Amino acid sequence: MDHQAQNVIDTPSNNTVFMVWNFHENVDIKDIFKRLCALVINLNNSAQVRSTLVKASVVLGIGHHAWKRLELPEPMPKELVPFEPVVGQKHIAVATPGDLHFHIRALEQGYCVDMATEITALLTQVADCKEEVHGFRYWDGRSILGFVDGTENPVGDDRAFFGIIGEEDAPYQGGSYLFVQKYVHDMQAWRALPVSEQEKVIGRSKANDIEMGEDEKPSNSHSALANVGDDLKIVRDNMPFGQIANNEMGTYFIAYASRFSTVKMMLKRMFIGEPEDNYDRILDFSTAHTGTLFFCPSINMLKDFAG
Ligand code: HEM
Repeated sequence: MDHQAQNVIDTPSNNTVFMVWNFHENVDIKDIFKRLCALVINLNNSAQVRSTLVKASVVLGIGHHAWKRLELPEPMPKELVPFEPVVGQKHIAVATPGDLHFHIRALEQGYCVDMATEITALLTQVADCKEEVHGFRYWDGRSILGFVDGTENPVGDDRAFFGIIGEEDAPYQGGSYLFVQKYVHDMQAWRALPVSEQEKVIGRSKANDIEMGEDEKPSNSHSALANVGDDLKIVRDNMPFGQIANNEMGTYFIAYASRFSTVKMMLKRMFIGEPEDNYDRILDFSTAHTGTLFFCPSINMLKDFAG
């Protein structure tokens, strides 16, 4: 049995299109879904032949509601559930519906646009696109808050270990849980904060991206609360996006994990706090507008689904 994962642990690219689609009610979606799986395989294979240097790829994620409606295999992946909001005293990680998620990456935006166009042409008869976010690489891999984003991501073999399901859920080996949130930042408030304070929010230095020592890192900094130990990691590929003139700049948070429970633990620490009410200060400058869990089957499963 081949358990090859989709391109979930690829390293960050320069351009991204993120899409969330929801199926219409009362329409037959099975046939289109079959064709969609075949299309995703086709797009990835074709990209490898046509554009090795551009590293174009698309990863398909399937939500809990869609999995049921499509009558995909039961029992489901162990941790594929509808995401429940995480409610803190001040901030909420909202839950929003999503049937299908597409994570399209390429060094050149044209490839992302073409892939998204093909997917749209197929899906548009049976589904609505609820989110379309175009992410871009900002300077040397920084979030739009100006801090390098991704430094503590797993590297080498650890990327597969933390990002892809292994024998612990044998029928779904090669799959991955995908969690996404669209955050909008209060850039005015953020820019008004002196750099030394911004550094306390993140827990790292801004210019050269060095982690603060344990004695100086505040317990409500992002890196203190998001870090749940060396044995529990996730593979992040966040991208900045937004509109400059109307001050709607944000971060599309995206994480792949072999266990969703790890992501949930991070969210609880960030939103509820550790200890309670010691919540992540990054949230005073960031509002989550979406939050959805998906499952990304292995390539072999996608081929089965495609028939
Ligand atoms: C508001 C949106 C977010 C922004 C702008 C953001 C940005 C950052 C930055 C700049 C870092 C430090 C460098 C690095 O190691 O990557 C970081 C670390 C991290 N973030 Fe986030 N992040 C966001 C949301 C989240 C969420 C929702 C989670 C988890 C559910 C998360 C999990 C992590 C983890 C695990 C680390 C590494 C912590 C460590 O081990 O030091 N982030 N993030």
